[in-house]
Amino acid sequence: MEMVSLHDSLPLFSRLVYGMWRLADDSDTSDGQVIAKVEKCLEQGITTLDHANIYGDYACEALFGRALKARPDLKDACQHISKCDVMLLSDHYPDRRVKHYDTSAVHVIESAETSLSRLGIDALDLLLIHRPDPFMDPTETGRALDSLIDSGKVKACGVSNFKPWDLDLLQAHMHHPLVTNQIEINPMAVDCFVNGDIAKAQTMGIKPMAWSPLAGGALFGDSARALELRAVMQPIADNANVGIDAVAVAWLLAHPAGILPVLGTNNLERIARLSDATRVSIDRQQWFEIYQAATGQEVP
Ligand SMILES: NC(=O)c1ccc[n+]([C@@H]2O[C@H](COP(=O)([O-])OP(=O)(O)OC[C@H]3O[C@@H](n4cnc5c(N)ncnc54)[C@H](OP(=O)(O)O)[C@@H]3O)[C@@H](O)[C@H]2O)c1
Repeated sequence: MEMVSLHDSLPLFSRLVYGMWRLADDSDTSDGQVIAKVEKCLEQGITTLDHANIYGDYACEALFGRALKARPDLKDACQHISKCDVMLLSDHYPDRRVKHYDTSAVHVIESAETSLSRLGIDALDLLLIHRPDPFMDPTETGRALDSLIDSGKVKACGVSNFKPWDLDLLQAHMHHPLVTNQIEINPMAVDCFVNGDIAKAQTMGIKPMAWSPLAGGALFGDSARALELRAVMQPIADNANVGIDAVAVAWLLAHPAGILPVLGTNNLERIARLSDATRVSIDRQQWFEIYQAATGQEVP
């Protein structure tokens, strides 16, 4: 597995990242099952794990942390990402009247500390602001993120779902660099290649992360777009002796922006095959065949 540098202050991250959003959706959330997933990742060199405070209605980080207690050796074998600022309506927070974002220093710092305690780790490798906050005071948020890094609780910070102007605003109020923007990229969500999102990451010299690289499973559905995409991908998959899922991920890996796909299957057999994507090479014309199927039209 290729290991990539997001910033000098960070350990190397695995090019493929495993995401924990669906952890609590699995019918089996036992420590054994969580450990089995992590072990299947590690066997392939997938060492970077993507969490968020809100995943599983605030349950996923704790599920993972409970499993780590049973296997503390896995703690240092992985790099741990988490996120903050989304305030879900939840039975855990009965006083909350509206779903909102909170990039206040109090929330950002408390959320990071809660993630550390739920995960049972000493420092987050990366903390992301999960969604751009239309009520953000960039001076306060930037200072809070810097202070988390200076205190050693977080090794680096980044953002998620940010537009280029959101990135500029927050970065202008920090002395530490934002090291990634985690955005939706998959063959059914390709706007980022032309709307400035990927261009901004390339301009800044940061590597984007791609959430839902298989469109959250929609790539395997019955929509006309999914059928068309699969028809284009199937010969490439057959030629490389891998599944369509590996071709979709390889299509992201092929892009010069250095995208890190964040995969989310709960299925142990699929987890065991995630690294198949690294065995598929996609040339320029194959990339555009998939892009054309994604947009439904020939490039002008
Ligand atoms: N920053 C953000 O705002 C944001 C938003 C969303 C997600 N994320 C991150 O991205 C990670 C991945 O998201 P995701 O889970 O949506 O990614 P994904 O890998 O695109 O989708 C996973 C879903 O696709 C299904 N699937 C995978 N392979 C399949 C196949 N061959 N055939 C049929 N179904 C298949 C899985 O079902 P099975 O489980 O049954 O295999 C699962 O439901 C999350 O865990 C989270 O860490 C971040």
